[in-house]
Amino acid sequence: MIEINKNRAYRKLIVGLDTKVPSANGKKVNYINFDNAATTPPFKAVMKKICEFAPMYSSVHRGEGYKSNYSSELFDSTRSEILKFFNADEKSNIVIFVKNTTEGLNKLSYRLINDKDCVVLSSAMEHHSNDLPWRDKCKVDYVEVDSDGRLLISDLQKKLEYYNGKVKYVTISGASNVTGYVNNIYRIAEMAHSFNSKIIVDGAQLVPHAKIDLKPDNDIQHIDYIVFSAHKMYAPFGIGVIIGPKEPFSLGDPEYKGGGTIKTVTMDLVDWAEPPYKEEAGSQNIIGVAALSAAIKQLNKIGMAEIEKCEKEILKYALESLSEIKGIEIYGETKFMGSRLGIIPFNIKGIHHSKTAKILSEEAGISVRSGCFCAQPYVRKFLKLSPMEIQKNRGLEFDEKSGMVRLSFGLYNTKQEIDILVHTIRHIIMNKSKYQI
Ligand code: ALA
Repeated sequence: MIEINKNRAYRKLIVGLDTKVPSANGKKVNYINFDNAATTPPFKAVMKKICEFAPMYSSVHRGEGYKSNYSSELFDSTRSEILKFFNADEKSNIVIFVKNTTEGLNKLSYRLINDKDCVVLSSAMEHHSNDLPWRDKCKVDYVEVDSDGRLLISDLQKKLEYYNGKVKYVTISGASNVTGYVNNIYRIAEMAHSFNSKIIVDGAQLVPHAKIDLKPDNDIQHIDYIVFSAHKMYAPFGIGVIIGPKEPFSLGDPEYKGGGTIKTVTMDLVDWAEPPYKEEAGSQNIIGVAALSAAIKQLNKIGMAEIEKCEKEILKYALESLSEIKGIEIYGETKFMGSRLGIIPFNIKGIHHSKTAKILSEEAGISVRSGCFCAQPYVRKFLKLSPMEIQKNRGLEFDEKSGMVRLSFGLYNTKQEIDILVHTIRHIIMNKSKYQI
C-alpha cells in the first residue's frame, strides 16, 4: 500500500500523466504509459527550469554578452554536476555532450578505434546502437546469453582468455532494453581490466533507474566510459552524454569538425581545442543541458535507491499478475529474480505483436512498444525463429515481422495501471476471434 501511495506522489512530479485519450468505445480514458524504455515524459522541474532559463538563452562559447556568458557557465557547470552524479573523478574524466546514446556510442567507435585488428567484445543482448557502430571499425565478437537471456559471464571470461590481451574494449549494456536484465558492470569491469581491456557501458536504460558509481580511476571496478540519453531520464530535450577519460580524446581528429572544435586554423593546418570542446562541433544544445541539470537534481531529490525500490515493486507485481494469465507468453524470466529493471516482453498467443499493441492503445489507452526494439539478434533468440523464418522476415515491413510486445515502467507507474493492463489482456484473450487478423 505504501508503495502505491509513493508512486502516486511521484506522479505529481511529471508532466502529462493525467492526459485523457479517446478509446474504441468513444469514451476518453486515462493514458497509461508503459513505454518508458523508449522515452520518458518530462519532470515538471525540467519544464520549470527551461522556462526560467529561456529569457537568458544565448550562444554557448561564442559571445561575450551577459546572456552568452550565463549560458556558457550553465553549460560547463552542468558537466561537473553530471560527474558528481556518477561519483566520477573530475580531474581525469570529461563530459562530452552529444545528441543521445546512439550518437555517443558512434562517436566512441570513431574516436577510440584506430586499428582494424583490435577486438571489441559486445554481447548478444545489445541494442543495435552498441553493436553496429563497432562492426566496420574492428573485429567484433559477442558474449553469449543463457536460455533466459542473461549475459553469460563464463563466456566473457572464455573470450577474454581466447583473445589473450587483444580485446581493447568490452562494450556492454548496463541493462537490456528488451528484458530489463541488469548486467553486473562492476564485475565485468574487473574482468576486462584484468585482461588490460577497458569497459564501455551503454547506460541508456540503466542510468534513469539505478544508482551508478563509476568508482575511482585506480579501482579495478572503475567504469571507463558510460553513455546515456536525457530523454529517458525525464528530460526529453535532445541531449546525451559520454563520460570518459580525457586523454584518449586529446589524440587524433574529431569525427565531426567545425565551429568550436579548434584553437588555430590556417589554410594549411588545424590545432584542435582541448577535449571536451574538440568533440562538440557546432552550436550546442544548452536547453537540453539545462533540462538534464534539472532532471539530475530531481532524481537526486527522490533518491536513486528509492526509484529502484518503487520500480522493483511494480515489476514484481506486474510479473506476478501477468504470470497468472493463461494465453500469454512472457519471454525470459517469469519470476522476479532481482537485478532487473521494470521491463517485460510478452506476446498474446495467436495475436500478432503489433495488433496487441494497437488494441491495448485503442481499448484502454495503454501505450507500449512492439517489434524487436532495435535488438533483433537478442529478440530472435527468444522467438526461436528458424533461419527460414528470419529470411522471410527480411523483406517485410516492420509490423509484419515477428516480434514482441514490451512493457516498460517508470517511477510513476502504479499497481492500478497494471490491473487495467491485466484486465485488458484478459478481455483480448476472451475475445480473440474478434481481434485475430
Ligand atoms: N532504445 C529505445 C527503446 O528501446 C528507443 O525503445
